[in-house]
Amino acid sequence: MTPVMPQLDGRTIAHEQRLPEIYRHLTRLEPGESMVLIAPHEPGMLLRKLLAEFPRCFDWGPLQRGPDAWRWQFTARRPDPRTIAGYLCWDHRRMEDLLHEGTQAARASQWAQARVSLDFYADALLRHADIEDAILFPAYEQLSGGLADSPTAMMRHEHTEVRAAVHDLARAAREAQLAALEAALARLGAVVVEHHTKEEEILFPSMDESMEPAAREALVEQLLLA
Ligand SMILES: [Fe+2]
Ligand SMILES: [Fe+2]
Repeated sequence: MTPVMPQLDGRTIAHEQRLPEIYRHLTRLEPGESMVLIAPHEPGMLLRKLLAEFPRCFDWGPLQRGPDAWRWQFTARRPDPRTIAGYLCWDHRRMEDLLHEGTQAARASQWAQARVSLDFYADALLRHADIEDAILFPAYEQLSGGLADSPTAMMRHEHTEVRAAVHDLARAAREAQLAALEAALARLGAVVVEHHTKEEEILFPSMDESMEPAAREALVEQLLLA
């Protein structure tokens, strides 16, 4: 299992103290270190402030988006220029960690832990596929001039398969059904491993190489805020 990340529960902090306290915790992180912030509402305003005040300093993504708590994972990074591969590969790796944690817990009959990790995994993955579909693939299609052999149609189809498998996986965890969970895992693995490899070895690097640095960074910021 990966080490448990420190958590800051923003719901327990007085409103006027919340932002400085969040900044204090985030800026203590060394590059590569992570924490989880629990917020009482969708943290879009906070994320915009972080981009403005600490540009390039953090990667982030959701673990839970409501209805009563919003959990966001933050990882500090060296403030180098952002790349598409840098951000989306970070998101792939954290999803793999969540899937591994949830699977190990289920196989050890630790169903409460399995449910938490796999619900987080599902939320992270559904959002990841959504932002690729809505922001990344259209940008790629524009860059490639709408070539007939664009790989994005296949990638979108794979996202549909992955979403269905992830719903089955989370349901199997909620129902503590190991056989159903293993079946959903096999279905997921048949698509997601190759899908991520194609993105990481072909799609992301080709976009990073063909975009101007400012446009590339603006696209990553759009992904971060979506
Ligand atoms: Fe994808
Ligand atoms: Fe991806």
